[in-house]
Amino acid sequence: MAEAGRILDGKAVAARVRDEVAAEVGALRARGIVPGLATVLVGDDPASAVYVRNKGITCEKVGMASFSFTLPADTGQERLAALIDELNARPDVHGILVQLPLPRHLDANHIIARIAPEKDVDGLHPVSQGLLLAGRPGLRPCTPLGVMRLLDETGRDLTGLRAVVVGRSLLVGKPVGLLLLERNATVTWCHSRTRDLGGEVGRADVVIAAIGKARAIPGAWIKPGAVVIDVGINRTDCGLVGDVEFDVARERAAWITPVPGGVGPMTIAMLLANTAAAAARMRGES
Ligand code: GUN
Repeated sequence: MAEAGRILDGKAVAARVRDEVAAEVGALRARGIVPGLATVLVGDDPASAVYVRNKGITCEKVGMASFSFTLPADTGQERLAALIDELNARPDVHGILVQLPLPRHLDANHIIARIAPEKDVDGLHPVSQGLLLAGRPGLRPCTPLGVMRLLDETGRDLTGLRAVVVGRSLLVGKPVGLLLLERNATVTWCHSRTRDLGGEVGRADVVIAAIGKARAIPGAWIKPGAVVIDVGINRTDCGLVGDVEFDVARERAAWITPVPGGVGPMTIAMLLANTAAAAARMRGES
């Protein structure tokens, strides 16, 4: 029987990324630059509050400054836009992250577009999206960057490999496909209207699952020897599970990410990396 797939340990890789960022921050601080990240949370969604708090704690661990802004759920568009303008103008803030989703009465697109593109460490500003599409340097979204970093851990050259991305969200599916294309993979995007999802996944050398539906990809679909990156984090009666049926998929894959402990820990690590890069770039040091 073939050996079970090797685990891509996101916790361990994220810790290495944080060490690298801490070293970069040390070098910046020696030149008088303290990279600073501002997080903006509107409302009191408990899950969002936990994410934002973790971002702040991790920032401080790597020597960055963290500024946290929590606004009441009934904050108006103008008030929020005014805060973004203030943060855009502050020289000690190099990155701005507005936690999504925003309450429904706010226009998230408008708010994200208000962020100065050079401080858009989430990579969601239309300018950042355009630079990614054009293949020009810019800030890339954090979860897709985390996926690429995990793929790098396998040591595989992606050139010419068939990569199937399941999901087409602006946060993950679309940008990760573009990053794979940048590395010369042959990219297919699949989604809820794809006719033969099993057939598409079955041909893939690299599978990126970003659907948000528990175990939507049966392990039996995975091509033997493929690399499987599971971006899904789904709460079920059996705890947190990914978008891929892990146990069966692992028997077929060469490499696979667990849930939890795969892509999840990478997102904040890449956010810190983006913030350090934004701080360096603002000083023309990138
Ligand atoms: N909410 C869930 N994921 C994200 C993310 O990557 N960025 C922001 N800003 N909000 C999120």
